[in-house]
Amino acid sequence: MYMLEVDHLKIWDRVTGRILVLDSSFRLRQGECLAIVGESGSGKSLSCRAVMRLNQSGLRQSGRIVLNGVNLSELPEKEMRKMRGRRICMIMQNGMRAFDPSRPVGAHLHETLAVHYQWSRGEMTDLLIQAMKSVGLKDPLTVMSRYPHELSGGMLQRVMIALAIVLAPDIIIADEPTTALDAITQFEVVEQFVQLRSRIGCSMIFVSHDLGVVNRIADEVLVMKDGEIVERGKTRDIFAGAQHPYTRYLVSSNLALNRHFMKLMGGDSVAEG
Ligand SMILES: Nc1ncnc2c1ncn2[C@@H]1O[C@H](COP(=O)(O)OP(=O)(O)OP(=O)(O)O)[C@@H](O)[C@H]1O
Ligand SMILES: [Mg+2]
Repeated sequence: MYMLEVDHLKIWDRVTGRILVLDSSFRLRQGECLAIVGESGSGKSLSCRAVMRLNQSGLRQSGRIVLNGVNLSELPEKEMRKMRGRRICMIMQNGMRAFDPSRPVGAHLHETLAVHYQWSRGEMTDLLIQAMKSVGLKDPLTVMSRYPHELSGGMLQRVMIALAIVLAPDIIIADEPTTALDAITQFEVVEQFVQLRSRIGCSMIFVSHDLGVVNRIADEVLVMKDGEIVERGKTRDIFAGAQHPYTRYLVSSNLALNRHFMKLMGGDSVAEG
């Protein structure tokens, strides 16, 4: 039984006709984490946004996307809106852009919860406080009273994770959620993602350039190149013996980077485990 089934997803530019994602199919079981890796422009973000049905209007998509038995491709936009947030949450690379800059963070959180739940304001606040504390935000009320630009990137990502805990969606799509963070914060936020998954039992799609992170979090990996899936498999198999030359290149260049980093830090490489 699959939580998400994507069959023959194709995405193209309506004006030029250029094909951006070609015949992509993948499946995700409950509680499983699928990583999507690949070079810049290979179609990772477009594929994620296609599942949310949030690609720009200049793009077209075809194929079948089924979430928990519901065919999202055929859902009226009004119904699709109810799915977003409640059933599928997307956490983006840049926390700042996910929030309305003109309002305190708390206003945005309450508003999002109000779309999906009938809770009172007090109930929402209690749930948010609990979730925010659990992801290491020590003073939730102060955080909620701040404007997005007053918080660091790492804090905003934690706020997004806390919101996801309260929303408890079936699937979380995280599109490079740690690339805008420094190395230490990156590590901490990845750990929060790992815990999030075990806590709410959601499935996860995790896009990342960092194979060390992928190794830590993903059960399976999809490798994309020029809009196509060129390789897929269990994470440990991909690391142990990638078949496609492009994946081998990706693994070896990441390992080299990792070794260099670890030499500087005086530790062992994490991607080789
Ligand atoms: N709105 C759009 N209209 C036309 N082409 C687009 C549009 N958005 C993205 N593209 C093109 O689609 C391709 C895939 O883009 P996508 O954003 O999915 O890449 P990506 O794999 O997420 O890359 P990155 O690692 O840099 O985030 C790119 O060639 C990009 O130029
Ligand atoms: Mg992208």
